[in-house]
Amino acid sequence: MPTFVAWVADHGVDRDVGFVTIERQAESSAEVRCVAVHRDFGGRGIGTRLLSHAEYRLAGSGVRSVSVKLPAFSKPDAEHTRNLHFFESRGYARREEANARVPDATYLTHVKVINPGDAETGA
Ligand SMILES: CC(C)(COP(=O)(O)OP(=O)(O)OC[C@H]1O[C@@H](n2cnc3c(N)ncnc32)[C@H](O)[C@@H]1OP(=O)(O)O)[C@@H](O)C(=O)NCCC(=O)NCCS
Repeated sequence: MPTFVAWVADHGVDRDVGFVTIERQAESSAEVRCVAVHRDFGGRGIGTRLLSHAEYRLAGSGVRSVSVKLPAFSKPDAEHTRNLHFFESRGYARREEANARVPDATYLTHVKVINPGDAETGA
Protein backbone atom coordinates (compact mmCIF):
# COMPACT_ATOMS: atom_id res chain seq x y z
CA MET A 1 0.00 0.00 0.00
CA PRO A 2 1.75 3.24 -1.07
CA THR A 3 2.37 5.60 1.82
CA PHE A 4 3.79 9.11 1.54
CA VAL A 5 5.26 10.74 4.62
CA ALA A 6 5.70 14.45 5.32
CA TRP A 7 8.48 15.67 7.55
CA VAL A 8 9.82 18.97 8.80
CA ALA A 9 13.30 19.90 9.95
CA ASP A 10 13.15 20.54 13.69
CA HIS A 11 16.42 21.95 15.05
CA GLY A 12 18.33 20.12 12.37
CA VAL A 13 16.50 16.83 12.92
CA ASP A 14 13.92 15.54 10.43
CA ARG A 15 10.65 14.86 12.20
CA ASP A 16 7.79 12.92 10.62
CA VAL A 17 4.62 14.99 10.97
CA GLY A 18 2.08 13.35 8.70
CA PHE A 19 1.29 10.66 6.20
CA VAL A 20 -1.19 9.58 3.56
CA THR A 21 -1.85 5.93 2.78
CA ILE A 22 -3.34 4.86 -0.52
CA GLU A 23 -4.87 1.58 -1.63
CA ARG A 24 -4.76 0.91 -5.34
CA GLN A 25 -8.08 -0.69 -6.14
CA ALA A 26 -7.81 -1.15 -9.90
CA GLU A 27 -5.76 0.07 -12.85
CA SER A 28 -7.58 3.40 -12.89
CA SER A 29 -8.83 3.83 -9.33
CA ALA A 30 -7.43 4.21 -5.84
CA GLU A 31 -8.67 5.00 -2.35
CA VAL A 32 -7.24 7.29 0.31
CA ARG A 33 -7.23 5.02 3.35
CA CYS A 34 -5.90 7.58 5.76
CA VAL A 35 -4.40 11.04 5.76
CA ALA A 36 -3.23 12.38 9.09
CA VAL A 37 -1.08 15.23 10.32
CA HIS A 38 0.31 15.64 13.83
CA ARG A 39 -1.94 18.08 15.67
CA ASP A 40 0.99 20.40 16.48
CA PHE A 41 1.44 20.89 12.73
CA GLY A 42 -2.22 21.07 11.65
CA GLY A 43 -3.57 23.94 9.59
CA ARG A 44 -0.25 24.66 7.85
CA GLY A 45 -1.07 23.08 4.52
CA ILE A 46 0.73 19.79 5.19
CA GLY A 47 -2.39 17.63 4.71
CA THR A 48 -3.18 19.43 1.45
CA ARG A 49 0.34 18.87 0.16
CA LEU A 50 0.31 15.20 1.12
CA LEU A 51 -2.97 14.65 -0.69
CA SER A 52 -1.83 16.67 -3.69
CA HIS A 53 1.41 14.73 -3.93
CA ALA A 54 -0.39 11.37 -3.69
CA GLU A 55 -2.81 12.45 -6.46
CA TYR A 56 0.07 13.59 -8.63
CA ARG A 57 1.86 10.26 -8.22
CA LEU A 58 -1.34 8.31 -8.85
CA ALA A 59 -2.19 10.34 -11.95
CA GLY A 60 1.26 9.54 -13.28
CA SER A 61 0.63 5.82 -12.86
CA GLY A 62 -2.71 5.72 -14.67
CA VAL A 63 -5.19 6.38 -11.86
CA ARG A 64 -8.14 8.55 -12.92
CA SER A 65 -10.42 8.31 -9.91
CA VAL A 66 -9.49 8.69 -6.24
CA SER A 67 -12.02 8.04 -3.50
CA VAL A 68 -12.21 8.42 0.24
CA LYS A 69 -14.72 6.94 2.65
CA LEU A 70 -15.85 9.05 5.57
CA PRO A 71 -18.08 7.77 8.35
CA ALA A 72 -21.77 8.60 7.91
CA PHE A 73 -22.95 10.16 11.15
CA SER A 74 -26.55 11.16 11.68
CA LYS A 75 -25.19 14.01 13.83
CA PRO A 76 -21.70 14.87 12.56
CA ASP A 77 -19.28 16.12 15.21
CA ALA A 78 -16.83 18.99 14.69
CA GLU A 79 -13.97 16.73 13.62
CA HIS A 80 -16.11 15.00 11.02
CA THR A 81 -17.34 18.34 9.69
CA ARG A 82 -13.72 19.55 9.34
CA ASN A 83 -12.72 16.35 7.57
CA LEU A 84 -15.64 16.66 5.20
CA HIS A 85 -14.68 20.26 4.46
CA PHE A 86 -11.05 19.23 3.96
CA PHE A 87 -11.92 16.73 1.23
CA GLU A 88 -14.78 18.63 -0.40
CA SER A 89 -12.75 21.80 -0.77
CA ARG A 90 -9.99 19.73 -2.35
CA GLY A 91 -12.26 18.48 -5.12
CA TYR A 92 -13.77 15.34 -3.59
CA ALA A 93 -17.49 15.15 -4.38
CA ARG A 94 -20.07 13.00 -2.66
CA ARG A 95 -20.93 9.95 -4.73
CA GLU A 96 -24.59 9.10 -4.69
CA GLU A 97 -25.09 5.72 -3.09
CA ALA A 98 -27.29 4.61 -5.98
CA ASN A 99 -24.20 4.80 -8.19
CA ALA A 100 -21.86 3.21 -5.70
CA ARG A 101 -20.45 -0.18 -6.58
CA VAL A 102 -21.07 -1.40 -3.04
CA PRO A 103 -23.68 0.75 -1.28
CA ASP A 104 -22.77 1.12 2.35
CA ALA A 105 -24.89 2.90 4.95
CA THR A 106 -21.90 3.21 7.29
CA TYR A 107 -19.75 5.35 5.02
CA LEU A 108 -20.11 8.25 2.63
CA THR A 109 -17.89 7.91 -0.40
CA HIS A 110 -16.34 11.00 -1.95
CA VAL A 111 -14.61 10.82 -5.31
CA LYS A 112 -12.21 13.03 -7.24
CA VAL A 113 -11.40 12.62 -10.91
CA ILE A 114 -7.75 13.26 -11.67
CA ASN A 115 -6.06 13.75 -15.03
CA PRO A 116 -2.64 12.79 -16.34
CA GLY A 117 -1.79 16.44 -16.88
CA ASP A 118 -2.74 17.53 -13.36
CA ALA A 119 0.07 19.61 -11.97
CA GLU A 120 1.13 19.03 -8.42
CA THR A 121 0.02 22.04 -6.38
CA GLY A 122 1.38 23.29 -3.14
CA ALA A 123 4.20 20.74 -2.87
C1 LIG B 1 -7.64 16.26 8.08
C2 LIG B 1 -6.14 16.56 8.28
C3 LIG B 1 -5.29 15.50 7.59
C4 LIG B 1 -5.84 17.94 7.67
O1 LIG B 1 -4.44 18.16 7.73
P1 LIG B 1 -3.86 19.66 7.81
O2 LIG B 1 -2.40 19.60 7.59
O3 LIG B 1 -4.33 20.31 9.06
O4 LIG B 1 -4.62 20.30 6.58
P2 LIG B 1 -4.23 21.63 5.79
O5 LIG B 1 -3.50 22.56 6.69
O6 LIG B 1 -3.61 21.27 4.50
O7 LIG B 1 -5.64 22.16 5.43
C5 LIG B 1 -6.43 22.68 6.45
C6 LIG B 1 -7.83 22.50 5.98
O8 LIG B 1 -8.34 21.27 6.51
C7 LIG B 1 -9.41 21.56 7.39
N1 LIG B 1 -9.16 20.77 8.60
C8 LIG B 1 -9.71 19.56 8.80
N2 LIG B 1 -9.34 19.12 10.01
C9 LIG B 1 -8.51 20.05 10.55
C10 LIG B 1 -7.82 20.16 11.80
N3 LIG B 1 -7.91 19.21 12.75
N4 LIG B 1 -7.02 21.24 12.02
C11 LIG B 1 -6.91 22.20 11.07
N5 LIG B 1 -7.58 22.16 9.88
C12 LIG B 1 -8.38 21.09 9.64
C13 LIG B 1 -9.44 23.05 7.64
O9 LIG B 1 -10.79 23.45 7.70
C14 LIG B 1 -8.72 23.62 6.42
O10 LIG B 1 -9.61 23.87 5.38
P3 LIG B 1 -9.41 25.14 4.37
O11 LIG B 1 -7.95 25.28 4.06
O12 LIG B 1 -10.20 24.77 3.17
O13 LIG B 1 -9.94 26.29 5.11
C15 LIG B 1 -5.77 16.62 9.78
O14 LIG B 1 -6.63 17.52 10.42
C16 LIG B 1 -5.81 15.29 10.52
O15 LIG B 1 -4.79 14.62 10.66
N6 LIG B 1 -6.97 14.89 11.05
C17 LIG B 1 -7.07 13.65 11.84
C18 LIG B 1 -7.03 12.41 10.95
C19 LIG B 1 -8.27 12.31 10.09
O16 LIG B 1 -9.39 12.36 10.59
N7 LIG B 1 -8.05 12.18 8.75
C20 LIG B 1 -9.12 12.20 7.76
C21 LIG B 1 -9.78 10.88 7.52
S1 LIG B 1 -8.67 9.64 6.89
